[in-house]
Amino acid sequence: MKVIVITGASSGIGLSIAQHLSQKGHSVYGISRSKIHEKNVKSIQADVTDYNQLKEAYQGIFEIEGRIDVLINNAGMGISGTIEDTSSEDAAYIFNVNFMGVFNSTKAALPYLRESDYGKVLNISSVAARLSIPFQAFYSSSKAAVNSFSEALANEVAPLKIQVCSIMPGDIRTGFTKNRKKNEIESPEYNGRVDLSVAVMEKDERNGMDPESAAKVVNRLVRKRRIPLYKTVGFKYKVIVLLAKLLPAKLANHIVGSIYAFKKGK
Ligand SMILES: NC(=O)c1ccc[n+]([C@@H]2O[C@H](COP(=O)([O-])OP(=O)(O)OC[C@H]3O[C@@H](n4cnc5c(N)ncnc54)[C@H](OP(=O)(O)O)[C@@H]3O)[C@@H](O)[C@H]2O)c1
Repeated sequence: MKVIVITGASSGIGLSIAQHLSQKGHSVYGISRSKIHEKNVKSIQADVTDYNQLKEAYQGIFEIEGRIDVLINNAGMGISGTIEDTSSEDAAYIFNVNFMGVFNSTKAALPYLRESDYGKVLNISSVAARLSIPFQAFYSSSKAAVNSFSEALANEVAPLKIQVCSIMPGDIRTGFTKNRKKNEIESPEYNGRVDLSVAVMEKDERNGMDPESAAKVVNRLVRKRRIPLYKTVGFKYKVIVLLAKLLPAKLANHIVGSIYAFKKGK
């Protein structure tokens, strides 16, 4: 039985991971702003943008359990729109949730992860960290920052017997699609291409994998003695990530553009 903390466990991928791992008999604590109504998942209401709230929450878990074995940084959100029409506030906010949230949570948990013989930090990144999606620049870059953070962290904490993995899911059917903040402002020069592009992404998400597919991957990473630094979720997305590595960067980026950005607008 492991003591597991999951941020963003009130819906979607986080809820599915929490359900899956609690069914396997682990002691699971879920963190989110809203209450988690799930038997066997202990709900703690906290905002990942607030380090002090997480510090207090993780200290409370440590007082009960004596350790934290696995931290799953999953809380996240999306924003769409052109770069030039995005407000500084929106750009800062998504970084505050998707990147600073991972930092706040990891910093707060490390003293307790050290008490485990088994410490693991699993960061939920995205395939968009590797292939940046036009009109979702801030989402893609916040996830690329999570990958970079995971690499540095892995080397810092390896001697402390803590392992790190950045998990990159492809499209998954969750509330993420409806929770995406859409920038209503679009300069006329873009000819309505934002809506066309986001519609492609939304269709892919609605037809995406079941969140259970990510939960199964996470369960395997929890069980494994040695874990990889990166794990992509979904066969199709593994091929895409491999191609992105093999193709010249400009060509790979152009292919992404032709899927999402070059549609004829108005
Ligand atoms: N769905 C996909 O296709 C996909 C693909 C790749 C990666 N991902 C990543 O997977 C993760 C989970 O996304 P999802 O698809 O499951 O979306 P979701 O259904 O919208 O769930 C997001 C979760 O994050 C929590 N959250 C958001 N802001 C928070 C904050 N400031 N403090 C604490 N919790 C917060 C939400 O809870 P509250 O609102 O109650 O706080 C909710 O539990 C995200 O990091 C996302 O980027 C998703």
